[in-house]
Amino acid sequence: FAFTPANLEWARGQISKYPEGRQASAIIPLLWRAQEQEGWLTKPAIEHVADMLGMARIRALEVATFYFMFQLQPVGSVAHIQICGTTSCLICGAEELIRVCREKIAPQPHMLSADGRFSWEEVECLGACANAPMAQIGKDYYEDLNAETLAALIDRFSAGDVPRPGSQIGRFSSEPAGGAT
Ligand code: FES
Repeated sequence: FAFTPANLEWARGQISKYPEGRQASAIIPLLWRAQEQEGWLTKPAIEHVADMLGMARIRALEVATFYFMFQLQPVGSVAHIQICGTTSCLICGAEELIRVCREKIAPQPHMLSADGRFSWEEVECLGACANAPMAQIGKDYYEDLNAETLAALIDRFSAGDVPRPGSQIGRFSSEPAGGAT
């Protein structure tokens, strides 16, 4: 693994924000940039970041495995769907969303769909409990979901659309109900 020249320059800028001896504090943004560059966080990328920061590789691996924002295996080329499975979302129907993912994408979390374009996983609370159940797709939150709206979202991503994030029933929005476009 190696950062592209532009990412390397950016990474050095991040590292320079911290005083001598504290370079390891830049680990989160560097891991994140490595993941953005590669699509997922490979072991060589984690090791490269650790080496850049002068920290033990095992410590970088500990950080990478702690946060579910880091993907340690390949994700779908079109979308990786993170279904919140914590209390509010669970009560409001997260299991139905997971069923849709099993049927439309792959039977197990972190498996790629047959065409390699989608993947999914269950994650802990994403902090949008008021609009449960919800999912993070890519970097965006899609809220007030049900089995039908999630299935429709997957179909739209598959067709090349980028549906509007937020509440899918127009809650807390001036958009009309079901206003994702
Ligand atoms: Fe799902 Fe908080 S419980 S976002």
